[in-house]
Amino acid sequence: MIIDWPVLRASATAAADRAYAPYSGLRVGAAGLTADGQVVTGCNVENSSYGLTLCAECGLVSALHASGAGAARAPGAGAEALRAVAVVAGDGQPLLPCGRCRQLLLEAGGPDLLVDTAEGPVELKVLLPAAFTGADLAARRETR
Ligand code: THU
Ligand code: ZN
Repeated sequence: MIIDWPVLRASATAAADRAYAPYSGLRVGAAGLTADGQVVTGCNVENSSYGLTLCAECGLVSALHASGAGAARAPGAGAEALRAVAVVAGDGQPLLPCGRCRQLLLEAGGPDLLVDTAEGPVELKVLLPAAFTGADLAARRETR
């Protein structure tokens, strides 16, 4: 699959322009390429109750599912819907996803998901090694 990183980064930058970040002043945009060629985006949305803030990647993952590209499947079954992600700040330059968003992206894109960085694309498994997944949940859940 050919990934047009400049286009993905531009989509993320356009989303960052629409962010609602009056408290931190850090606007963030995220754009993802789906397996079926769609580009889905998200931006951060802050709140006067600070802890309610939504990261841009949260919006992206919601848009992924709302678009239909993230069709329901068994967790960890492979063939994840998201193939590549660009996250940028308001200046259009890459911003590394926070830890929570790395975990969120893992379930949408799998360990081979490509994440844009200032040094070039990096696989998510490099940014989130030894991740907790649905397999751990299934293996360790206690039956009552
Ligand atoms: N932010 C994101 O949107 N994504 C991340 O992964 C890192 C942080 C936002 C949340 C908040 O609105 C602002 O950046 C400052 O933390
Ligand atoms: Zn985050």
